[in-house]
Formats: sequence, C-alpha cells, structure tokens
Amino acid sequence: MAKRKSTCNNSNMAFMQLSMIGLALVLLFEPGHAVDKSNFKTVDQCGFARRHKDIPEGQSPYAAVLDSFHIEADGVMRGNILNTKNGILLSLEVFGLEDRMVRFKVNELSPIRPRYEVPDVLVVEPTPIRWKINKQDSTSIEAATSSGITVLLSSEPFRMDFYDNKQLVFSINPRGLMKFEHQRERRKSVEDQDQPAEGGEEVDNVEPAVVEEQEQEELEEEPEEPDMWEETFKSHTDRKPYGPSSIGLDFSFPGFEHVYGIPEHADSLALKPTGPSDPYRLYNLDVFEYDLDKRMALYGSVPFMQAHNKERTVGLFWLNAAETYIDISSNTADKSVFGRMFDYVKGESDVPQVDTHWYSESGIIDTFLLFGPSPMDVLSQYTDLTGKPFLPPLFSIAYHQCRWNYNDEEDVKQVDANFDEHDIPCDVIWLDIEHTDGKRYLTWDNHKFPDPGRMLDHLAAKGRKMVTIVDPHVHRDNNYHMYKEGKDNDYFVHKQDGSEYEGWCWPGSSSYPDFTRKDVRDWWASRLSHDSYQGSRPNLFNWNDMNEPSVFNGPEVTMHKDVVHADGWEHRDVHNLYGLYFHMANAEGQIQRSGGTERPFTLSRAFYSGTQRYGAIWTGDNAAEWGHLKASNPMLLSIGLAGIPFIGADVGGFFKNPDEELLTRWYQAGAYQPFFRAHAHIDTKRREPWLLQPESKLIIRNAIRARYALLPFWYTLFHNSSQTGLPPMRPMWMEFPKDADTFSMEDQYMLGNALLVSPISDQGSRATSVYFPGNDPWFDVDTFFAYQGPATHNVNADLDKIPVFQHGGSIVPRKERVRRCSSLTVDDPYTLTVALNNAGSANGDLYIDDGHSFDYKQQKYIYRQFTFSANKLESRALSGAGFETNSWLERVVIIGLKSVPKKVELISQTITQLSFSTSHNRQVLTIRKPGVNIGQDWTIRLS
Ligand code: NOJ
Repeated sequence: MAKRKSTCNNSNMAFMQLSMIGLALVLLFEPGHAVDKSNFKTVDQCGFARRHKDIPEGQSPYAAVLDSFHIEADGVMRGNILNTKNGILLSLEVFGLEDRMVRFKVNELSPIRPRYEVPDVLVVEPTPIRWKINKQDSTSIEAATSSGITVLLSSEPFRMDFYDNKQLVFSINPRGLMKFEHQRERRKSVEDQDQPAEGGEEVDNVEPAVVEEQEQEELEEEPEEPDMWEETFKSHTDRKPYGPSSIGLDFSFPGFEHVYGIPEHADSLALKPTGPSDPYRLYNLDVFEYDLDKRMALYGSVPFMQAHNKERTVGLFWLNAAETYIDISSNTADKSVFGRMFDYVKGESDVPQVDTHWYSESGIIDTFLLFGPSPMDVLSQYTDLTGKPFLPPLFSIAYHQCRWNYNDEEDVKQVDANFDEHDIPCDVIWLDIEHTDGKRYLTWDNHKFPDPGRMLDHLAAKGRKMVTIVDPHVHRDNNYHMYKEGKDNDYFVHKQDGSEYEGWCWPGSSSYPDFTRKDVRDWWASRLSHDSYQGSRPNLFNWNDMNEPSVFNGPEVTMHKDVVHADGWEHRDVHNLYGLYFHMANAEGQIQRSGGTERPFTLSRAFYSGTQRYGAIWTGDNAAEWGHLKASNPMLLSIGLAGIPFIGADVGGFFKNPDEELLTRWYQAGAYQPFFRAHAHIDTKRREPWLLQPESKLIIRNAIRARYALLPFWYTLFHNSSQTGLPPMRPMWMEFPKDADTFSMEDQYMLGNALLVSPISDQGSRATSVYFPGNDPWFDVDTFFAYQGPATHNVNADLDKIPVFQHGGSIVPRKERVRRCSSLTVDDPYTLTVALNNAGSANGDLYIDDGHSFDYKQQKYIYRQFTFSANKLESRALSGAGFETNSWLERVVIIGLKSVPKKVELISQTITQLSFSTSHNRQVLTIRKPGVNIGQDWTIRLS
C-alpha cells in the first residue's frame, strides 16, 4: 500500500515538475517576453567582482622585488612581486616575443594547488626574444628587446610601462588596482575548530611562499569575506572548496581615446566608459531576446581589446577563460611617465588616455601586449597567436534559409522548390531541434523525416546542402546511444560528490559531455561519421547551439561553477572554453567523416579566442526590431576585430514578426554581412520571401542575387582572411586609420578595401548620409555616380536601394549569371569592375579553388592580381599552381575614365581587338567578351 502510494506520489511529482519546467520554458521563449534580467547577476551580486571593482586607486600593496629579477638563459625576464600586506610572493615572467609582442604572466610562486592556465587556444608557444637590461637602480629596471620595445619595471608600487621606440603605449598597474588572491586554507571559526575543513581535496602541506619569518608578524591576511568559500545566487549555492582565487590588473593606454573589441555585447563599436556597476562582462550565457546598448554578457567571449589613434593601433589579450569583467574610463595621461625614460614631452595639450581594469574569477594573469603598429598588424599578431581563420567552403558564404522549424520532409521539399519557382538563389536549408527524435541529437524524428538520406539526396541533386542542429546536452535515456556510450565511458561532467551532473535543457533531464577532454571530443567527432549518424550524407553539415552551455535550471541559465571537469578543474576555470571545445569536436568530426579531404561547416553560438579556426558564429536570439537590425553592424564589427570573421545575425530577427519593410531592409543588410542566414522563432509567422508582397519579394530576391554575384569577391576576402586574420567586414577606421572622423563610425563599414556599405536600419528612411573618406572618388555600385571624398553626402536609399560604393583605386570581381545555388556557378564567367582613383589606377585580386576540399593546402588554387595603370589592365599570378578553371572573362567595366579610348586590345597568346561602349556621360567603359581564361596572364590595353 505504502509503496503504491509513494510511487503514485513520485510520478505525480515528476509530472508536476515537468509541467512546471514546460511552463517556464514557454514563458521564457514566448515572443514578446523579454527575459527576466533578474536571472542574470549584476556585478554587485558577484563576490569576486565586488572585491575588485572598488579597489581604491593609488594604494597598491604590490612591490616588484628588484633583486630577484634576472634575464634567464631563455631570454625571459623573471622575478618576484611581493604583496606587502600579507607577504605572499608572486612570480612575474616577462617575455619579449617575435613580431612586436610581449607576454607577461603572474602566478603564485608556490601555489597550494596549480592554477588553471588556458590550454588549446594558442596555436604556438611563441618564441621569446632576449631582453637586455639597459639600466637598473634601486627603484626600477629598464630593459629592451631588439625589436625596439622597452619596459620600465618600477618597484614600489609594482608597475610596468611599455614603450615602442620611445613612445609610451601601455602602462600596467598604473592605478594600483592589481589584486591576486592566493590560495589558502579556510580559517576555522572557534566553533568549528574541531570539524574537518569543508569540501575540497586534502591539500598537501604546502605553504604559500611568503617573506622572511621575522617580518611575518607585521603582516596581515586579507579579511575573510562571506563570498570567498560559498556564494548564493537565487536558489543556487556555489561551493568553492578551493576558496578565493581571483585575479585583476589595470592597464592604461596613454595617447588613445578609442578602444574596441572584447565581444560579445549588444553595444557600440567604440567601447564606452563604464559606470561603477556597469562593467563589460565576459561570461558565455544564453540570454535570449537580449537588450541593446548593454554591457551584459552574451553567448561568446573574446578577451581581446584594441586601442587605436591616428598614429598606431595596439592590442591587449587577457588569456583567461573564467568569468571576467572589464571597466573602462577615459582620462588624461599622467605626463610625468612620458618623460620618465626619454624626456619625451607630448606637446602642450593634455594627452588623452583610456584606463581599463580587468578581473577574472580564477586562473593566472597571462597577458599579451601587441604593438601593431597598424590595425592590420594587430590582427595579424593576434591571429598568429590564436590561429588564422579557417577557409569556409564556398556554399557557406552564400544564402542560408533557416527557421525553427521546417516541419517535415515535405516542408523541406516545398521550401526548396519555392526557391526555384521564384528564382531566388539559396544554398542551404536548415533544420532546428524539432527534426530529432525527442531532442536526441544525431537522430531523426522518423515520422516527420522517414528517409533523411532521400531528402538529402534530393537537395544534393539540386546542388543544395542541409544543416541540422546538434546541441551539447545529451538526453538521459539509456536507450539513446549517445547517452549510453557517454555514461558507460564516463564522458560526462560530474558534481563535486562524483556523481554525473544533471541539468535541464530541451529534452528535459540531460548530461553534459566534458568536451575539455580530447578523448570525449574524439568520441563525439566519431559519432558524426556517416555510419554512426544514420541518414547523413556529405551534403549535411551542423549547427551547434546552446553550447555556453545552456542549462535551463542552472544559475544564470548555465552550468554550476563547481561542476568538475577533467583533472579536477572546476567549471569556473573553463566556462568560456566549453562552447569552443564543442565547436572543435563537431568541426573535427566533419573533417574525419570525409577521410580528411573536405572542409567542414559548423555554426556555433558560443565562442572564445580561437573559434575562428573552426567555423562561423551568429549573434543568437535577436528580435525583429529596427534597433536589433542596427545593432547587428557594431556587434559583427566587434567580433570581426576579435579575430572571428565569419559572423552573422539572424536575418529578419529571431523573435517577433517583422513587417515587410523591416524584413526587406534586413535582407539588404544581411546580403553584405559575412554569414547570411534568415532564421525565425517557432512561434513566428512564416516569412519566406515568396510569402511577401510581390514588391518585397523582388527586393529580397535582388539582395540575395547581389550577394551571389559578389561571391568571388567574398571568397577572395575569406581567403585573405585565412592568411592574415583580417575580417572581410571591417570598421571604417581600419581602412582609414588616420581619419579621426571614422573612429566611432558603426553604421557604415568596409568590405575589404574596396566596398563601402551603409545599410539602412531606420524605419521609413529613403535617404541616408554617408561619409566618404580619403581623397579618391567613391562610385555607387548601381548608378556609377561618383562621390568625392573626404565629405559626407546624402545618398538615395529608396526601398529597393542598398547604399554600396566602390572605392576609386579598387577592382572587384563578380559572377553575374543568376543560378540556383553557388555550386552551379563554378564555371561561370567573370565581370571585373575597375574603379579608378584620381591617378587613373586601380588594383584588386581574385582567389579561386575547388570551393570545398583541402586541396588548396597543396597549392591547388589560383590567386591573381589585377592592376590598372597607364591605360593597361594586367592580370598576373600571385601564387598557386595546379588548379585550373573553365571560367573566362566576360566583361570589364571601367569607371571614372577621363577619356574614351579609340581602341581596346586583349594581349594574351595573341592580340585581339575587343568591342566596347561607353555610358554614364562617357565615364563608364564596358569592354565586352575578352573571353580569356581567368586563370591566365593577360593584358587589356586601351589606346
Ligand atoms: C536557441 C537558438 O539561439 C535559436 O536560434 C534556436 O532556434 C533555438 N535555440 C531552438 O533550437
């Protein structure tokens, strides 16, 4: 009896629990319900952050112990820093690095237990170059590297100033905000003297390194604060068996007024000064329907900041994967430090300065200073460290059609057919979580998708691809192979008591693989093989969502910080890496399933430094509002500046229903952003282009076609990005670094160095003002109308118009045949648009390979440079060999010509006369059918 009753109660309770979670999910995800901000911590609700954010300036207890500093055999400067209040010694290592970089690390000299150092993000362990001590006295050491970088290390308080050829560019700890919480044993209160210490491992009898014993009596340990060993947020208690372990440091950028980067935030491109309770936060979180103009954390984190002024650009990379905050304030530089070494005086006026303060919950201080000096140099230095972006397969930079959800095979076929019916190009159709068997990823709902292979083959026959969603949470069901295998092999993360951690996500009760482990990533990757992923085909790719990770019933909708990963590391140490590791496993899996020959495509929501090596990312759950459309540009620009170039925002807005004007404007913007995908929430109305009014459909069709025509240009930009780290979508200041008018600009941007894009993001707007920098003309890409720079002009922005301008001095390649998808354009001919600068010259490039394999790594590609000068357009190979194309040159359009030629000749193996015509007031010359293979050397001569 009793048993029956209790069973009945349990199942009732389970049912009630499920219904409550269901209700909570509905509330969370129903459009119109902005997420409850009280789900997320403010800085004041975060124990370690409170201990850092209000440190008084100018009272630093840290002193560099100058006698301990030496240049060691490896060229590195090493010595100790003393906390004069508690006597704890820290180690400081300062590495001069090749390519104008410096790294420094601060750690405990003898920690009770090792502190977490971020693995797998740097692609190289950079080689140090030797410091040479120039001067040393009782207060400071001055040392320099052969690359012109000098450090002045001051003792009391500890401070470092870095000069680049006598110009001060970074000051470290100038405000004395450094704080390094050493590990300790929990002090016992009188009552629990007899009790064993709570939680955690037994620690070896290691004492932290301290100063001499006789001095110890005067030393004082920091007061214990309640949050140091345990912290509660809402109903969640974070037990911290290892106690406080946070780190923080302040950095100033003398001479700079503008800093950028540290995504992901829904905020301006040029970062703003933060208020006392409003720092930028880096902690990967699932914040749906996020607010704009906020510094609150979002899905991804890259702790990399750039500072820019007219003379130079520099970068600061804070290699730490724990929860991190950054305060920013603008200031006037303390000019005494400029003259400290070199009597350098910077004119009469005040020197501006940006002050920043960084603090993270655990780990060590591991910082890279990148000395640029150009914006291009900084990105190249950063991506030398964290990896160059991967070269995306061609289809993935074309147009993607997604929604939550395309319901079944028939629905997919209809969508596919409608693109053809309405003559709109599309490369990829996406399936969201409903396609699975009960949110068990890598499976299919057999009723809706009885024969996925058939569906995929149908798309493949059209040249199209499919992407299915693959989330990291694994439904706890012993009949689900991923769960069973994960459990049998102990692949999931654990709670402190050693049991498997359980969280709630889409399927309900879920476990989370420990992707920080290579064996777990290898297992996951192997499950993407065609044998294992039933019904998959080579034209199936994947989408990694919820990988912050999202845990619906966890603190701040994520994993508890005291969850245990491999080697005993806590989730708090690795949190911001989880999504990166999951992305890595999926990209690897795709490479492996092809036997290593095919490039992968995986879209991820969470990201960290290094994500650029694995795939694309998008900005998560935006809303169908004009503000969100506008915000997409600064958000994407900031992420691009952080080394991740393949980025997009849901076109149309995820939540809510856009009206037709907003939707068309969003397509126009998306067509000129790197990752171009329409997506919508399950509760929104269907909004595929053919469902709109005919005028709107045509405008959207034209925007998508414009994207397809420019694919050769985009692909070349992505190739260049994979070599240099430069994002295709760039802030204006990157291309015009000396023009201060561009430094805060975020509503217009550059694609490479050739196209200026000013997308419309205001309702009702039919004109817009565009700033044209530099002294050369800019040509409207549709009308060829010339705007002279530097000036702001009011330009037409009718509903069917996307304001895009080609810079005089550039050459842009296009393929203008309209096709169903990118794979059908392979042999299509090219049009080159040559926009002349004031000197009558221009140049550009074109990269071509097979668009999908790794053969390009064996030089199997074509990379050509086009130059126009002295009335001659020439094509020459820059690199590449062993790849051939059937594509030929169909047309050359020269804009901004001063005089019309009498004769136009093609010089390749033979000399051929070409026909041509002029238009637009004789400013535009169109040369027809040169007909030469685009991969060959040729010259077109105008005379
Ligand atoms: C959240 C993602 O951000 C969204 O794009 C997706 O549609 C839903 N999860 C459902 O998978």
